[in-house]
Amino acid sequence: MERNMELAGKVAVVTGSSSGIGLSVCSALISKGARVYGLSRSATPIEHERFEWIRTDVMVEMEIEQAFGTVLGRHEQVDLLVNNAGFGFFMDVETIEPVDWRRLIDTNLTAAFLCTRQVVPSMKARRSGMIVNVGSVAGKRGFKGGSAYCASKFAINGFSESIMEELREYGIRVSCVNPGSVMTGFFDHAGLQPKKYMQPDEVARLIVSLVELPDGMLPDQVTVRPL
Ligand SMILES: NC(=O)c1ccc[n+]([C@@H]2O[C@H](COP(=O)([O-])OP(=O)(O)OC[C@H]3O[C@@H](n4cnc5c(N)ncnc54)[C@H](OP(=O)(O)O)[C@@H]3O)[C@@H](O)[C@H]2O)c1
Repeated sequence: MERNMELAGKVAVVTGSSSGIGLSVCSALISKGARVYGLSRSATPIEHERFEWIRTDVMVEMEIEQAFGTVLGRHEQVDLLVNNAGFGFFMDVETIEPVDWRRLIDTNLTAAFLCTRQVVPSMKARRSGMIVNVGSVAGKRGFKGGSAYCASKFAINGFSESIMEELREYGIRVSCVNPGSVMTGFFDHAGLQPKKYMQPDEVARLIVSLVELPDGMLPDQVTVRPL
């Protein structure tokens, strides 16, 4: 018989929960009955008995360890990890300060690795779980000014594909969702403005629908663009 990931009662961790896509994903998961932990530096504006914000700067390894220590101290496993925290800037390559390059790679790429390694042991032990990485269409093709952001998002695609192959034999699904432009705070500081946008709630719906696919289906990559 076909089994779906039934979100009611499941434990989810979402990074970058304070705004945009991450905030919408938290709300969508709560509405499906999941117990959700949101990790971000600024407060996540959700008041719900099944939601908890854990103040976390994902650039700081120890803060990630503490956050997952809290979650895994209360639950046997994290059923769903959404690696979503991220930001972008778009500049000519020679004008990018190394400190900013590292900040971006730490946030968009290394944090996903650090969070993943926290949840995989208990997922493997239970032979279940799902990891959704938020990539970007900028992880599929490069463009002028995108050297840092595209490098981070190409890398998250490569990271996802590798752990997808590594973890599928343990019953763990890994997906990389690559959205085009979404109407969020992302563009407040990015230094560019697209003409067409999707809404964060729509991307959240897509992510939840991937999670709810039958257990035997592994949606490894999805690219979605504004029409
Ligand atoms: N908007 C788009 O068009 C678009 C398209 C494709 C992919 N994406 C990706 O979608 C993801 C979410 O972005 P968004 O569009 O929803 O933008 P957003 O509204 O600016 O949200 C970004 C989230 O990431 C968190 N974050 C950033 N740095 C962090 C850090 N050091 N520690 C913890 N949390 C951190 C922010 O929280 P705090 O600042 O409170 O820490 C915020 O919750 C990013 O990975 C982005 O690259 C966005």
